[in-house]
Amino acid sequence: MTIQNILMKYEANQENLLKAIKDAQREYGCVDKVLVKQIAKYFSMKPAAVFSAASFYDQINIGGKFSIVVKVCDGANCVTKNSTKVIEEVERFFGQKVGDTFNANVKIERESCFGFCAQGPIMVVNDVMYEKVTPEKVDDILSGYTDFQ
Ligand code: FES
Repeated sequence: MTIQNILMKYEANQENLLKAIKDAQREYGCVDKVLVKQIAKYFSMKPAAVFSAASFYDQINIGGKFSIVVKVCDGANCVTKNSTKVIEEVERFFGQKVGDTFNANVKIERESCFGFCAQGPIMVVNDVMYEKVTPEKVDDILSGYTDFQ
């Protein structure tokens, strides 16, 4: 059965997402990034959000696993430069909140100050620092790590 056949069994609303992911797992043995992209397109979601939902369940075998830690500064200087919106964009990208622990592959954290206030807002992804991050840049930066876009 093709992934399209699997998806067409379900209405494209998010309450059916896990059922579709489980069906794909049964058919293909794992849910790799190609399947994640197709599932995301069908449900009109970000691929990273589908990945995040799939990786929550132990019985789903994710192909091409990755691990990512995103730290965003919420020190006073960065907050005045809109870091709160940056954090919201990171949360939206992954479909999870700061401090959520349900997904062992993705962590989002706040930091009080990285010591580079003049270059803020600062975001650090897997130990790589990004300066002057705007909410609009978040998708591009994170897509470089998830390789889903
Ligand atoms: S307040 Fe963000 S780096 Fe200092």
